[in-house]
Amino acid sequence: MQGVSRRLGHQYIKQSSTSISSFKSIYQLHDHYNGAENPRFASTLATKGVGHLVRKGTGGRSSVSGIVATVFGATGFLGRYLVQQLAKMGSQVLVPFRGSEESPRHLKLMGDLGQIVPMKYNPRDENSIKAVMAKANVVINLIGREYETRNYSFEEVNHQMAQHLAVIAKEHGGIMRYIQVSCLGASPSSPSRMLRAKAAAEEAILRELPEATVMKPAVMIGTEDRILNPWAHFAKKYGFLPLMGDGSTKIQPVYVVDVASAIVAALKDDGSSMGKTYELGGPEIYTMHQLAELMYDTIREWPHYVKIPFPIAKAVSMPREVLLNKVPFPMPVPTIFNLDAIEALTTDTLVSESALKFDDLGIAPRKLKGYATEFLIQYRKGGPNYGSTVSEKLTPKSWS
Ligand SMILES: NC(=O)c1ccc[n+]([C@@H]2O[C@H](COP(=O)([O-])OP(=O)(O)OC[C@H]3O[C@@H](n4cnc5c(N)ncnc54)[C@H](OP(=O)(O)O)[C@@H]3O)[C@@H](O)[C@H]2O)c1
Repeated sequence: MQGVSRRLGHQYIKQSSTSISSFKSIYQLHDHYNGAENPRFASTLATKGVGHLVRKGTGGRSSVSGIVATVFGATGFLGRYLVQQLAKMGSQVLVPFRGSEESPRHLKLMGDLGQIVPMKYNPRDENSIKAVMAKANVVINLIGREYETRNYSFEEVNHQMAQHLAVIAKEHGGIMRYIQVSCLGASPSSPSRMLRAKAAAEEAILRELPEATVMKPAVMIGTEDRILNPWAHFAKKYGFLPLMGDGSTKIQPVYVVDVASAIVAALKDDGSSMGKTYELGGPEIYTMHQLAELMYDTIREWPHYVKIPFPIAKAVSMPREVLLNKVPFPMPVPTIFNLDAIEALTTDTLVSESALKFDDLGIAPRKLKGYATEFLIQYRKGGPNYGSTVSEKLTPKSWS
């Protein structure tokens, strides 16, 4: 394990040492004239985990953190918070994207000019993956999907792609930190196919790169989340919320920004997070019912639930899965009735006692009530300030 870690780091240092030494004197001369040796200008970032990087500046957006990170899956939910945190400390972020040029556009503004570099790639084409990794010294993989499509199976997106990236990163030789984002609850014995695929990915990555860090976040909450937003939409549209089972499944939802902070903290440490797996759950355990109560409370509506036993919920979501590869057109994206997510809900998903957690990365995760769920005020019928007293909560009957 240690051997591979040293080998990777050593190769990088060997490759870069010639160029660094030849430029050193130029930098020293330059520093002499611009006063950069003054402690005021010293970067406060401890990027020891990513080795001997050339760092400059005060540690803000216009400084140079030395990190050049390729963030696969940066166009998604967690990606926007992670890229923002990397960019604001002066890292260069290479953003591989597929499809539309629009998908990485919101990320461009997060960094200094030229620091966020969208690069078109094809996740099935080895050369294009190599091209987006070529200049990087850090690789972070956020690719994942909680439903299948006609083109991509759970296994391909959540396992094979992750394994492929790790193999290419290993061949690259200059990747000093590799971070894989998996899921809390990922296990070979999980009832969910996606979580089994995630577990297989973890195993494959640690086989290829034993010094990789694995982050296993719980359900993530935030402005673009895929749990409270669909719930609020559904509740507003239909006047009730389906609760799978009896709503007693326990989860440990986490604020998305804290997960991004955990990834950055791992990059900035002295390498102690290398080869480790972290389970990132929020500070509080919620049952699905309690989380739905929090949602209703924040959108100022009276709760109305329909409890749907698991067999019925699975039967309702089954047709999409059966028809997926049988009809010649794409099926709608499942939101609340997602068969695989319902399977996952049949068991509690909590951070285990013995796991490494946020504490071990020096982060105190935020509670959900308050700032982390404030985005839900957009669903209040009477505007953001509506319903400061409980008597102002709306009943579905008063909507007309
Ligand atoms: N959201 C949660 O509550 C949660 C909880 C625990 C763990 N996780 C895991 O954390 C990671 C990030 O989550 P997220 O919520 O940010 O995910 P997300 O919003 O769904 O974004 C997923 C990213 O993966 C990319 N992707 C999906 N399918 C792909 C494919 N076939 N080929 C190439 N790229 C593909 C997407 O690219 P496009 O934009 O091109 O589609 C997007 O950039 C994922 O691995 C997820 O499994 C999420």
